[in-house]
Amino acid sequence: MADDTSIIGKARPRIDGPAKVTGAARYPSDEPAPGAVWAFLVTSAIARGKVKSFDLDEAKAVPGVLDILTHWNVGGDAKPPAPTSKGKPTTTLESDRIWHDGQIIAVVVAETYEAAREAANRVHVDYDEEKPSATFGSPGAQEEKREPGDHEDPKIGDPEKAFGAAPVKIDQRYETPTQHHNPMELFTTTCFWQGDKLTIYEPSQFVYGLKNNVAKQLGIDPAKVTVVSRFTGGAFGSKGGTTARTAWIAVAARRLKRPVKLVATRDQGFTIATYRAETRHRLRLGADANGRLTALIHEGWELTSRPSQYNVSGTESTARIYACPNVETAVNLVHADRNTPGFMRAPPDTPYMFPLESAMDELAYALKMDPVELRRLNDAPKDPINGLPWSSRSLMKCYDAAAERFGWKQRNPVPGAMRDGDWKIGWGCATAAYPSNIAPCGATVRLDGDKASIGLAGQDLGTGAYTVIAMTAAQALKLPVENVSVELGHTDLPAASLAAGSSHTASICHAVAAACDKVNAKRAQGETGVIEETAANVPNGLPDSAMDKINHGQMAISRGFGRKDCTAYAFGAHFIEVRVHGRTGEIRTPRMVSAFASGTIINPLTAYSQYMGGMIWGISAALFEKTEIDLRAARYTNDNLADYLIPVNADAPEIDVLLVPEEDNAVNPMGIKGIGEIGIVGVNAAVANAVFHATGRRIRRLPIRIEDMV
Ligand code: MOS
Repeated sequence: MADDTSIIGKARPRIDGPAKVTGAARYPSDEPAPGAVWAFLVTSAIARGKVKSFDLDEAKAVPGVLDILTHWNVGGDAKPPAPTSKGKPTTTLESDRIWHDGQIIAVVVAETYEAAREAANRVHVDYDEEKPSATFGSPGAQEEKREPGDHEDPKIGDPEKAFGAAPVKIDQRYETPTQHHNPMELFTTTCFWQGDKLTIYEPSQFVYGLKNNVAKQLGIDPAKVTVVSRFTGGAFGSKGGTTARTAWIAVAARRLKRPVKLVATRDQGFTIATYRAETRHRLRLGADANGRLTALIHEGWELTSRPSQYNVSGTESTARIYACPNVETAVNLVHADRNTPGFMRAPPDTPYMFPLESAMDELAYALKMDPVELRRLNDAPKDPINGLPWSSRSLMKCYDAAAERFGWKQRNPVPGAMRDGDWKIGWGCATAAYPSNIAPCGATVRLDGDKASIGLAGQDLGTGAYTVIAMTAAQALKLPVENVSVELGHTDLPAASLAAGSSHTASICHAVAAACDKVNAKRAQGETGVIEETAANVPNGLPDSAMDKINHGQMAISRGFGRKDCTAYAFGAHFIEVRVHGRTGEIRTPRMVSAFASGTIINPLTAYSQYMGGMIWGISAALFEKTEIDLRAARYTNDNLADYLIPVNADAPEIDVLLVPEEDNAVNPMGIKGIGEIGIVGVNAAVANAVFHATGRRIRRLPIRIEDMV
């Protein structure tokens, strides 16, 4: 797609960069709200039971306190937000019920932040406490077979029989921990009313979703609700769904007839928003003596709250990465007294590819084969589940490019054979894959002479959305990028879908291109002066009504799997070096090379950053990140950025990101596959595989820590 005159495909700094570094960019809590008063949340100190009573006298006596919301006085004023899954939502101020530690049970509003916080600390709660269940294996935790619905459990052939007959077998169990997104920007909400019209400033991945959900919770007409989120300071899935806090801040603002602003604390973010669920897996691989897969059986378990059936079910990907004639998968839920989990970067694939890509490495050792060659042997010429062609598949091109750059040929395959003084050196690899998704989207283009402005209610989460929109419009309208301005994140603009699932660039760019086509058609007819056109793009395979769903804040998306014409995935390959100290067990990751093929890359500069960020986060998931839980209290104990470990600069390796060129004419007209999530997928396994190569220790429970090495 890129040629010399092309704008698309040429690296370009963010058009919103200057606004961000000068502070001109307004994040939702920066939006002016004259006369605003402050809210502070009171959260539950127990994980299961009921609020018996509140003693509010001391709190009310704090100077500046204006109102205290509890289930006593506002319980009927809002319904809980619609769950993103089957089952029921957890409640907050709607009742006295406590579902999890850190649940919102009261909202204190005061003239200042300090007064609200002080008063919140003086709210005394009398609880009826029951013994909570914290996690897998805790007494009282309840296992449930997942109801089929949003996800299928792929099955082909006779896997049990094939596994039983396989001459080479792997049968292992794997575990991934609870993790929290911790975007730099906290979970904030500002609400104010003008008559019966509500305005919400809140960081969001889906302003139309928030608008419609909050309207439903409050029982008002969605047309009366405006949501603004021009900039979002990181989200990673945590700002995708509607959470309980928003409606209560709206209720508080209505009661006081003043704007109310909430900036929840970092530790509250661990329990008032969503997180990555803890998972368990049993994975079985059978192969013939040459290494060809004959059976793949993947069973997963995901932790969720008591009432919700939320799950991410990553087996739709693990079932179709490799050619295998006998496949079976299943996903089960385990209910405990915890907040409901949600999306977190590559929600299904980050935890589910860990067992598959670890087991593939284990199989390579069992066969005495090179792990790259094992992947080559089992590369799938078509989707093994439904027999459809791939829109394009460059998995082995990625392996070959990254292996070459990494120097994989020099690897001595014997575990523990490579050393540098006291350091044991390990080299590991793994596959990255992510389905190519695209959603309906609208856009308005206004051309005024040689200047264009674009508007749509999409989101830039720090990802570079503003810039790819400007580039797409500049190319279509034959203008310099500097002449294009872009407005996002406002429900007065045409609707865009949830900025998630690596779908946003494909969704928004096709809508912008469609609106530009209409403008160009008018130009071709000789129209002069200001031309303004609005268009919507509904991806192939979705009904026209799909755009209505987005307008009403619901999800509609064409996924990379489940299409009628082809199966569309982006692929990649990771190679990483780990060094494990022979005496201390310290694990370092000095260098990493990954290659990705994701179809058309609109902006290689921001694409590079997206991939790199995903890779570092993958190292984090393998070696650092875990939300620790006090098993007696079902309470998170490291709910702050000091104790929740993440890699700092010195932990991040020297990184090479290779962008393997790929032209895909089937995935969508512009050939865009999406890049937001694939960078993290499989990195956890690549690290674990490298640790095994360094030490001979196979660690199947993340994160891998010093304790595992000594
Ligand atoms: Mo992303 S976890 O799809 O918001």
